Amino acid sequence: MSGLYGKVIDDHGKRPRNRGSLEEPDAAHEDVNPLCGDRIRIELRLEDGRIAEARFGGSACMVAVASASLLTEMVRSLPPGEAAALTLDRIVSEMHAELRPARLSCAELPLSVLRGAVKQLPER
Ligand code: FES
Repeated sequence: MSGLYGKVIDDHGKRPRNRGSLEEPDAAHEDVNPLCGDRIRIELRLEDGRIAEARFGGSACMVAVASASLLTEMVRSLPPGEAAALTLDRIVSEMHAELRPARLSCAELPLSVLRGAVKQLPER
């Protein structure tokens, strides 16, 4: 096991995928974890009824950044409804880590932001 939270969180936390912003997002949503003030923003671009691109930004802890990085990978090519149906359990299982309850809220932040962004997209 590397790092405090294991290999996957270490990798995605230090070398996050899809960090940045889109030129013309179809949806963009941002929120804060009220427990700590950390903030995540997610932008989505839709193509043929599926998420073609997802980017994230913000200032947050390593677990939240790793979660956003994983999530923006996982939603690519999913229809909006399927992306919004992803669960915290699924993200944590992709992380291959056991997170204490306080850290679960970190992993959950990008998921709730994603759901907020998906609400702005048309569902077919
Ligand atoms: Fe704030 Fe993790 S400590 S989201």
